[in-house]
Amino acid sequence: MSVSLKIENVSKVYDKTIALNNVNLDIQAGEFVCLLGPSGCGKSTLLRLIAGLDRPTKGRIYIGDRDVTNLPPSRRNFGIMFQSYALFPNLTAYENVAYGLRNKKMRNSDIEERVNRLFEMIRLSGARNRLPAQLSGGEQQRVALARALATEPDFLLLDEPLSALDAKVRLSLRKEICNIQREMNLTTIMVTHDQDEALTMADRIVVMNKAVVMQSGTPEQIYEKPENPFVADFIGSINFFNAEKGTPYGELKGKTAAVRPEKIEITRTGKDEGSTEDILKGMIADIEFRGFYYRVLVQAEHVLHGEITLAVDVPFQTAKKQKFKVGEAVSLRIPQEEVLRFETA
Ligand SMILES: Nc1ncnc2c1ncn2[C@@H]1O[C@H](COP(=O)(O)OP(=O)(O)OP(=O)(O)O)[C@@H](O)[C@H]1O
Ligand SMILES: [Mg+2]
Repeated sequence: MSVSLKIENVSKVYDKTIALNNVNLDIQAGEFVCLLGPSGCGKSTLLRLIAGLDRPTKGRIYIGDRDVTNLPPSRRNFGIMFQSYALFPNLTAYENVAYGLRNKKMRNSDIEERVNRLFEMIRLSGARNRLPAQLSGGEQQRVALARALATEPDFLLLDEPLSALDAKVRLSLRKEICNIQREMNLTTIMVTHDQDEALTMADRIVVMNKAVVMQSGTPEQIYEKPENPFVADFIGSINFFNAEKGTPYGELKGKTAAVRPEKIEITRTGKDEGSTEDILKGMIADIEFRGFYYRVLVQAEHVLHGEITLAVDVPFQTAKKQKFKVGEAVSLRIPQEEVLRFETA
């Protein structure tokens, strides 16, 4: 079964640290939510409060329509998985997964059937009699996932489950977790500070900073329609036009405009092209190879507002055809519909 979760006006204060400041969050049954934000913003604290490993200083937590604010973890029926594998080192992979079921006094034959099914799901049937020390990091995390799922939890809590793994293993485990989550339609909250992980895995991303929720939305909403400069800057890359310096789109104090590097069009400067508000003339100051694209830094002169340096991302194939070089004169076109505008205090 899968449940909805509700976090209502939740704050958590440790001594003098405000770890969470009036957080509100509604999570639908079956939803995959990623908590994303910089170190120390309160992600793990929120997860711990949902698990009941800690109590909120203020506010309520609901599982379905049950108020669980003062219930212990054992009454919340969740599966949990942390960054460090934390398997029992002296138990085989099989016994690690079976552990919670033995505690529940389930029949041996039923335990065996369920554990075998979980090992098939994580594709590790051949390794189930090994000790954790005889498994790779990725394999240990898969066992930890199976263990978290063994007791058929109502929801799953994952705290940076993939961050200790190398890039390749991380990618394949991402897929595996997504598939399992969708298949079981299991409400899942995953903490990460990896934006790619959040963008590719989540139904919804909750971006946090300094104990508050900055924005909550689908990956597309968060990327295409960030509601504030923090979110725009934290996810993906962005060029800000600084209002103070009087640059193109930030004429008024209290307003900031910005554009992502991949939205800017770059061409060689033609003879009869004049500068306008969306066409900037400039010179290539630097070119960085980024794998499937090049980041071109252009020192541009705006017709109204003076000098500005803009990052422009050029797909590999385009860059190869164009053969841009440092020092070359170029024109930039900034499509007006791609300009993000923020009110800033
Ligand atoms: N038990 C505690 N006692 C005192 N302060 C704490 C405690 N747990 C967390 N904090 C503080 O609360 C804030 C939020 O911590 P939290 O662990 O939730 O951050 P996080 O977003 O998970 O960061 P990271 O990405 O580094 O894991 C931090 O300033 C942290 O120092
Ligand atoms: Mg944390």
